[in-house]
Amino acid sequence: VIATPVLTTSQLTLAPFVAGDAPDVFAWASNPRVAEYTTWVAHRSLADAEAFVNMVMHCGPDEHCWAIRLSVGGPGIGAIELALIAPDAADIHFALAESMWNRGLTTEAATAVLDWGFRTYPRISRVITNAAAANVASRRVMEKCGMRLLRTEFANWRKHAGPVEVAVYCFSRAEHE
Ligand SMILES: CC(C)(COP(=O)(O)OP(=O)(O)OC[C@H]1O[C@@H](n2cnc3c(N)ncnc32)[C@H](O)[C@@H]1OP(=O)(O)O)[C@@H](O)C(=O)NCCC(=O)NCCS
Repeated sequence: VIATPVLTTSQLTLAPFVAGDAPDVFAWASNPRVAEYTTWVAHRSLADAEAFVNMVMHCGPDEHCWAIRLSVGGPGIGAIELALIAPDAADIHFALAESMWNRGLTTEAATAVLDWGFRTYPRISRVITNAAAANVASRRVMEKCGMRLLRTEFANWRKHAGPVEVAVYCFSRAEHE
C-alpha cells in the first residue's frame, strides 16, 4: 500500500486529511460558487464536511487525497485527489477556496501531484480527467499542467437532471517527461 505523503511546493503544503480538517473543508465546500461545476453538491452542514473528510481518510489503496494548505499546520484551503481508475491510468480532481482563486495555486498543486503520481506508479501510462466544459478555470489548470484536450462528451452527473457536457483531458507519461 502506497501511503499518501506530504508534498511541498514553493507556496503550498499538501498533506493527508485529518479528522480536525472538517471545519476548514466546510468553509470552502459550502460555497455554491466552488460547487458550481463539481460533481458534488455544496456542503449544507458540518456533517457533510465530516463525511467528506472521513471518506478521503479511508479511501482505497490507490486513491490519494491531500488537503491544500498555505503552510504546515495552516488552514486547509482546498483539496486535490489522484486516483487510479484503471491498472495503467489515473485521474485528478481539485477544488480551492474562492478567496484563493487565480493565484496559480491549483496549477502548482496539480503539477506536484502529477509528478508524484507518475513517479510513484510506474505502471501509469496516462492521467485522464474531465471537467464540465463550462468550467473555464479548471480547464485552464489542466492545460497549464500540460494536459491536452481529447474530446468533449456528455455525462450524467447525479446532481443534474440532464446530461452535462464535459471536456476530457489526457496527460501521457511521454508528454509529462
Ligand atoms: C478550478 C479551480 C480549482 C482553479 O484553481 P486556481 O487556483 O484558481 O487555478 P490557477 O490560478 O492555477 O489557474 C486558473 C486559471 O484559470 C483562469 N480563469 C479563471 N476564471 C476564468 C474565466 N472565467 N475565464 C477565463 N479564464 C479564467 C485564470 O486566469 C488562470 O489562468 P492563467 O494563469 O492563464 O491566467 C478553482 O477555480 C476552483 O476551486 N473551482 C471550483 C471547484 C472546481 O470547479 N473544481 C474542478 C472540478 S473538475
